[in-house]
Amino acid sequence: MRKQKSVLVLCLAALLLTHPTDARKAKQEVIAVETNNTVLVLLVQENGLVKTLHYGASVGNPSQFLAMSSSEEDYNSCEGLAYPATGGRFIGEPALHVKYADGTHNTELRFTGATQTRREGCVTTIVGLKDDVTKLQVNLVYDAYPAEDVIGMHVEIRNGGSKPVELHNYASSALFLDAKDYLLTHTWGAWAKEMQMEQELLGHDMKVIESRRGVQATQANNPSFLLSLNTRDFSETSGEVIAGALAWSGNYRISFERESSGRLTIVSGISPHASAWPLAAGESFTTPDMLYTWSCEGAGGASRNLHRWGRKYSVYGGGTVNPTLLNSWEGAYFNFTTETLLRMIDDATGMGLEMFVLDDGWFGNAFPRNSDNAGLGDWEVNVSKLPEGIDYVASYAHSKGLKFGIWIEPEMVNPDSELAHSHPEWVVQSPGREIYQGRNQWVLDLSNPAVEDFVYGIFDRTMQLAPNIDYIKWDCNRVIQSFGSPYLGAVQDKFYVAYVQGLYNVMRRIREKYPHVLIQCCSSGGGRVDYGSLRYCNEVWTSDDTDALQRAFIQYSQSLIYPACVMASHVSTVPNHQTGNVTPLKFRFDMACSGRLGMELQPRNLSDGERALAERCIGSYKQYRDLVFGGDLYRFASPYDSPYYGLMYVSEDRSRAVVFTYCVAYEPRTVGGKVFRLQGLDPARTYKVVEQNVDASCWWGHDKAFTGSFLMGGGFNPRLPQLYSSAVFVLEAE
Ligand code: GLA
Repeated sequence: MRKQKSVLVLCLAALLLTHPTDARKAKQEVIAVETNNTVLVLLVQENGLVKTLHYGASVGNPSQFLAMSSSEEDYNSCEGLAYPATGGRFIGEPALHVKYADGTHNTELRFTGATQTRREGCVTTIVGLKDDVTKLQVNLVYDAYPAEDVIGMHVEIRNGGSKPVELHNYASSALFLDAKDYLLTHTWGAWAKEMQMEQELLGHDMKVIESRRGVQATQANNPSFLLSLNTRDFSETSGEVIAGALAWSGNYRISFERESSGRLTIVSGISPHASAWPLAAGESFTTPDMLYTWSCEGAGGASRNLHRWGRKYSVYGGGTVNPTLLNSWEGAYFNFTTETLLRMIDDATGMGLEMFVLDDGWFGNAFPRNSDNAGLGDWEVNVSKLPEGIDYVASYAHSKGLKFGIWIEPEMVNPDSELAHSHPEWVVQSPGREIYQGRNQWVLDLSNPAVEDFVYGIFDRTMQLAPNIDYIKWDCNRVIQSFGSPYLGAVQDKFYVAYVQGLYNVMRRIREKYPHVLIQCCSSGGGRVDYGSLRYCNEVWTSDDTDALQRAFIQYSQSLIYPACVMASHVSTVPNHQTGNVTPLKFRFDMACSGRLGMELQPRNLSDGERALAERCIGSYKQYRDLVFGGDLYRFASPYDSPYYGLMYVSEDRSRAVVFTYCVAYEPRTVGGKVFRLQGLDPARTYKVVEQNVDASCWWGHDKAFTGSFLMGGGFNPRLPQLYSSAVFVLEAE
């Protein structure tokens, strides 16, 4: 049995502990990464291995863990390694797998020291590890956000040896958990059906969530999940839930491996698929962040933690109110003239919208963009559609008091374009092979710095098309297939990662020059919904599916991880262009108003009555939208397990709230109405409840005042008698 020698506890009180380069100490130590309500506890064994002891509720003084006795077998096992590497006794799913110049694959990481530093709102703990034989160095970096209970984890890997090495696996983090049951909630999807929630109990086989799409990485599944612990049931309001999200816009892999002991290791990061990364002597690689939060208030608590953190530290401009808008796409597609756009601007102004966004179709002359067959890459204004130029349209919008936005898809090129002819070497391709088209287009090779400059230039030049362009919709409409980069030559393995690094370089430059422009991140809808791109973008185009019924399912699942301030949601026409479904205009508005409200239709086709309803809904939205953008989200009915969808946003001081309710499936009237239980209110306060957008309210309590305890205890039962019934209520404390 090993002896416990002196104990070093690293806690938040200590600013500088040991330096990562300090020689290894032959004693046990506990390292605590703490937030206000959670702690990640690492144990440094006497043999230098670093293991995870605990992630979850705060435990008081973490050094108490040192008293826990464990067997010799535990001591020698590699279960729970904080960053498991292929090598030593470890034979599970590696976070790190390195191939060395001599052809060997073994890495054994041992502790060298730890430091802790603080900055506003964040405490960073760095745990230094090193392989004594190969001199590979790894820093495990933990950014703890105490107030939000979020811990960001990433890793810096340095080749401290004298020969080049190849990183085969280089995950952002490995999280080790010990629970009886693990209920995994994650999303699958497809174009116009993103973010479909799926749940499963983890068994002893390996579960992997992965994307190999290159770009548009999140359309089929999102690099995020919730894990309900010690339960087989999903609860919004109670029980331990961990939420995880990877801040990366390319190929990713998140694996859940359950040991025979029942314990679980989650390894998450960039997908190793075809992506061995070469590190010359002295070179380093820094992984993207894996974000974790833990809550004992169920899924709702975990979501709120991530949302608060996202709004404050991650989403560009997070939490600030963004304008309502009319987007030209579903109303005009490629088919417009200056006149069409000016009339849309008039109509948008009349309904009280605040921005007009000109979508696809405004560019290309030699190869005019009249369909998705041609023009991508040639970003000059199409002179036959818009002879007066963009400036004319933008100035008209500005003269009406509207902001102006415009669409670009800078990473792509149509074969029918001047760009494809002048720079064939910029196209992603593999020598001697067909370059497959997707939506009639090819992908530009952002691993090439010249392409980075070109893509940056597209954004920069588009911003010069008119003074004060307020908003750019950045699209990306296909996946990468048959990958290859003429620029990378023999190091094709770098392609997938270098592409995303190139993208982020461009975004970084854009933000340096254009800190105030609003950017929407779109990728055929929700193909790029991740905390990596949101560092540069204000919002995402949630889905090309604008059918309000389908949106209930998509938006519910997106809200598990991402805050409502990023969720663009538009009212479109009926029958819906994707689904053919016909829903009432009010239902469509009520759904869109639970995110960033927009419209995407030809307003000319609205009747006077519809226009009046639009005006009313937009007007009321402006009164409560600060809650949508900055309030705390509570979901009180799930469309996935009930005929209703219900959610609410509550102000931080709990004095105001907005409540959204929808009937999303037929429920026979004879079974009686649904009584909802609101959440997040102050039980002792009295709230006046006012339904929005109707003359005759569907709730007997409209315009009356109730205590928070009554509303949360089961007295809230608006009548939602039919499929597509919906009601929105604003609550104000008296
Ligand atoms: C993608 C986007 C749409 C629209 C079209 C334009 O599909 O998701 O919103 O911008 O491209 O071609």
